[in-house]
Amino acid sequence: MNTYGMVTKNRNTSSGFKGYRMYTLMPFLMLTIFLATPSFSFAQQHQGAKILILYYSLTGNTKASCEALQKILGTDILEIKDLRNRSGKWGFFKTAIASLIGRPTKIEPEHPNLSSYSFIILGSPIWTGKLSMAIRTLVDRNRFDGKKVVIFTTTNAYEKEKYKEKSRSLVRRAGGEVVGYYQVLASEEREGKDVARSKEKIVEDTLKYVPEIQKAFFLVP
Ligand SMILES: Cc1cc2nc3c(=O)[nH]c(=O)nc-3n(C[C@H](O)[C@H](O)[C@H](O)COP(=O)(O)O)c2cc1C
Repeated sequence: MNTYGMVTKNRNTSSGFKGYRMYTLMPFLMLTIFLATPSFSFAQQHQGAKILILYYSLTGNTKASCEALQKILGTDILEIKDLRNRSGKWGFFKTAIASLIGRPTKIEPEHPNLSSYSFIILGSPIWTGKLSMAIRTLVDRNRFDGKKVVIFTTTNAYEKEKYKEKSRSLVRRAGGEVVGYYQVLASEEREGKDVARSKEKIVEDTLKYVPEIQKAFFLVP
């Protein structure tokens, strides 16, 4: 009886102590589990978060890049069409002047439904140091509140930081949070001449950004 009593008492004391120890250790235990499983918490946080690629392309470079991103990232994609005629030398000249003075253009669709997307990739060529008129018009006329935005451009020469910052602030004014800015060169110098790069090379360079884009959207830790 005595022995039994001792054992019982000891058990009680021991389980009481264990309970106390568990209670004090619980926060540390939970913190350890949380820190040790970052991918789980990232996956949970962003479950169901959808990505939409909105792009404009005149000569096909940005289109090739965005379509390749769409396949790899499994996103939705929507081409923004510029309804003005920009073909030929005269079209190029008019486009360059209008872009330089910051004119808007007619686009289709003008108000795409962005409500189900948390992440947006804006794909655009660079015209006269700016995003194309179609993409600037799109950003001007829509709201991107609460959305994380990656700007992706194809261009003949890498943009200076101050021009990139202007594009970022355009998106910020529309409520978007710019989480990345990536550029791919569409031309290269060969024997002293600027030559257009192949679409394959442009796509190859584009896909190198996939891990960074995923990180920028917090899709991977
Ligand atoms: C009107 C016009 C203006 C351009 N201005 C620039 C420029 O300022 N800087 C640059 O590096 N490339 C410039 N480019 C080259 C384009 O950015 C580049 O060729 C781009 O890859 C075209 O994309 P797209 O094929 O999707 O239309 C310009 C092209 C056009 C048609």
